[in-house]
Amino acid sequence: MLKILVFGAGSIGTFLGTKLYAAGHNVVLYGRRKLKSLQEQIFINGEVYQLPPRCYQLHPDDYNAIFITTKLYDVKSALEEIGKYHFNPQIIAFIQNGIVDNDFYGEFQNHPGFVAVSVFNGYNLTGNQIIVTKSNLGLQVEDNLTGQKICELLISAGIKCHTTPNISQMRARKLIFNAASNALSAIEKKTIGDLLVDSEIKDIVDGIIQESWAVLKDDYHLPSLASLQKEIYQLTSKVKNHYSSMYQDLISGRNTEIEFLNGFIINLGREKGIKTPYNEQVYLKILEQQDNRK
Ligand SMILES: NC(=O)c1ccc[n+]([C@@H]2O[C@H](COP(=O)([O-])OP(=O)(O)OC[C@H]3O[C@@H](n4cnc5c(N)ncnc54)[C@H](OP(=O)(O)O)[C@@H]3O)[C@@H](O)[C@H]2O)c1
Repeated sequence: MLKILVFGAGSIGTFLGTKLYAAGHNVVLYGRRKLKSLQEQIFINGEVYQLPPRCYQLHPDDYNAIFITTKLYDVKSALEEIGKYHFNPQIIAFIQNGIVDNDFYGEFQNHPGFVAVSVFNGYNLTGNQIIVTKSNLGLQVEDNLTGQKICELLISAGIKCHTTPNISQMRARKLIFNAASNALSAIEKKTIGDLLVDSEIKDIVDGIIQESWAVLKDDYHLPSLASLQKEIYQLTSKVKNHYSSMYQDLISGRNTEIEFLNGFIINLGREKGIKTPYNEQVYLKILEQQDNRK
């Protein structure tokens, strides 16, 4: 049995913590608004689970594993908070979409238990329900000792996890999927599957995939555009009923991760002299909707 801290219990964090707790681990959920709103029992795809113990203030403790499940824009402050307690876990796992430089993780990038997880499933926490939309790729981690440890841990809790020899490429593929679907799902208020049904929206999806591939292909050794597009369509069909987390963020008045998704591609495109008008179009619309909420 491991002692596990989940830092940032929202959609993914509450899911992981609850499944690991059900598998017999000693889990603590640490969170804010979403965590406070939960009841003691939670439904995951209709099945009832007991919520692990929660806390709203960290305490020094000997955690074996820490999962950071905040949005990317909250990771820096999460690390500052964690840094104060001198935890020394065997595993410190980061579960965020998007690509960031390893320097983003400060001193934690050199921690022997550092692992970045790429998530290809969809999780939506509303009320006391988590709806999980699974894809064939599940969760992906780097094929090293820590990656193997975390995979074993997650699989023991019934969570599909794979090791991959090239996690950077995997993250880039996931970034393109997110860039092509998250903002549009939020702007159009449609599920990810419904985006491809409308021919005008599908043209924008295709434009974003093409531009993003052109920007990322050399740095991340991406497969051909045709095979990437096929993968994204397959993934879309698996998670077709899911509303993106950006959609969830906008309707609940939270910030979005647009800067780390389409914003990342736009900036890298500028550096490389590659135009990204489709990414810019959705990027500006999301900024406008974020501003309108203020
Ligand atoms: N949801 C998905 O389907 C999905 C799929 C793949 C990848 N991801 C990635 O996974 C990451 C997490 O996504 P999510 O959908 O689970 O986000 P989320 O529901 O917003 O959960 C993040 C939680 O972290 C909490 N938090 C942030 N800073 C905190 C702090 N300093 N102390 C305590 N709690 C803190 C937030 O509190 P508040 O409740 O107060 O905001 C929020 O509840 C994102 O990077 C996302 O891109 C998500």
